[in-house]
Amino acid sequence: MSKPSIITDVVSRRVWDSRGNPTVEVEIHLSSGKYGRAIAPAGASRGLREAIDLRDGGEILNGLDVRKACSNVQNIIAPALIGNDAADQSAIDRILFGLDGTDDKSKLGGNAIVATSLAALHAGAASEALPLWKYVAQTYNTTPNLPLPEIQIIGGGAHAGRRVDIQDFMIMVPGAESFEEVMEITSDVYRAAGKIIQRKQGSVVGVADEGGWWPVFDSNEEALETLVEAIALAGQTPGEKVVISLDVAASEFYHNGGYKLSLEDRDLNTHEMIEMLGLWIEKYPIVSIEDPLAEEDASGMIAFTKAHGDRIQIIGDDYLVTNAELVDAAVKDEACNAVLIKVNQVGTVTEAVAAFRAANEGNFRSIVSARSGETEDVSIVHVSAGLGAGQLKVGSFARSERMAKWNECLRIKDAPGMGPFAGATSLKNTWWNRG
Ligand code: PGA
Ligand code: ZN
Repeated sequence: MSKPSIITDVVSRRVWDSRGNPTVEVEIHLSSGKYGRAIAPAGASRGLREAIDLRDGGEILNGLDVRKACSNVQNIIAPALIGNDAADQSAIDRILFGLDGTDDKSKLGGNAIVATSLAALHAGAASEALPLWKYVAQTYNTTPNLPLPEIQIIGGGAHAGRRVDIQDFMIMVPGAESFEEVMEITSDVYRAAGKIIQRKQGSVVGVADEGGWWPVFDSNEEALETLVEAIALAGQTPGEKVVISLDVAASEFYHNGGYKLSLEDRDLNTHEMIEMLGLWIEKYPIVSIEDPLAEEDASGMIAFTKAHGDRIQIIGDDYLVTNAELVDAAVKDEACNAVLIKVNQVGTVTEAVAAFRAANEGNFRSIVSARSGETEDVSIVHVSAGLGAGQLKVGSFARSERMAKWNECLRIKDAPGMGPFAGATSLKNTWWNRG
C-alpha cells in the first residue's frame, strides 16, 4: 500500500477576498482520502521585492481576475505534484520553486504558489490527524505558544484611501494575563475609539480595509491622540497594560528621496522623519513601529534603529519581505530588530520558515501577519502558534476575515501541547519590559 500522504489530486478554484476581489483557493487530496485547503491573501501596500500575484489584466474585474493563476495550478502544478508526498513540505516547495523558475514567482503567480504550499501543509497535518499548529511545530522542531496580538484600531494609508498617511494605528495588550483578557480590552478600546470618532465627526463613521475605524482626522498625530483617548475611555491607563504599535508603511509616501505627508501638506527628509517619529515615541506609549522609513531608505532604517532600537520593537515588513537573505543583511546592518512574516510575501511555507529562522538566529523578534485582503483562511494563526513566533497581526477587531483569526486563537489556546500565552515576554528588552 502506498503512503497515505501521497498526493492524488490538486484542485484550484477562484474564490473572493474581503475586498471583493478574486483570489486563488487550492485543495490537495491524498491517497488516504484526507485533504488540505488554503486560500491566497492579497496585499495593497506591497514591498518592491515581494512575490508577485498573477492577475489577468484587461477590462474584466478591474484586471484582477485570477483565471490564469488557477489554470497554472490545474495544468502545471497539479501534474508535477501528483504522486509526491504532501508530508514532505520542503520537497513540495522545491517543486513549486523549480516549476516557476523566477525570482519573484511571477511565472506561475505568487497567489497560485502560496495557496498550493499552504494547502500541502494542511494536507500533511490532516494526514497525521494533527491540528495545523502542532504539525508546524513537529515539522520545524519549534516550541509552540499563543501569540500576543497586535490589533488595529484606526486604519490609514493605502487601506483608507490615503485619508491619513500612517497606515496602522494599533494596540497591544502585553499586560494582559491571558488571551481572553486581550480580546476583552481590545473590544472596549475599539468601541471607545468608534465613540470618540463619531462624536468628533457628528455622523456615522465607517471602517477601512482591515476593519479599523475610517480615519477622519486633520493630522496623523490626531489619530494617535484619539487612540490614547480611546485607551483611557476604555478604563485603561495608556502605557500600563495597553501600549501602542504603528505601521508607518513609509514606502507608500516616499517619493524622490523624501517623505510626503499629504494630509498635512508637509515634505520631510529622512532626518526630519526620524525626528517626528522620535517625538511621538517620547510623547505616546509606543512600543513598536513597522517600516518607519521606506524600503529604499536603508540608511534611514539604520539611523532610526540606532536611535530607538534599544527602546522599541522596529519591524521590517516591506523592508524585509519575509526573505531570509534580507533578514540576515538587516541583522548585520542593524537596520531593524524584528521581522514581519507574511507567507505570501515570499511565496512558500519553506521560505517563510527560513526567514523566521534567520530572525531567531539574529535575535530578531517575529510577527506573523495577515494581508489587507484576507478571507476565512486561518492558516497564519497556526503558523504563528506552531512556530512560537510570539506575535500575530491580522488587522482590526471587526469584520469576519479578521475575527476568524482571533477566534481561531481562542479555539487552540487550551489544546494539549500548546505553550503559554506569549504576552509580556514577546516584548522583552523594550521600554515596556526591561526584565
Ligand atoms: P498589505 O499591508 O497587506 O496591504 O500589504 C499590510 C502591512 O503593511 O502590514
Ligand atoms: Zn506593514
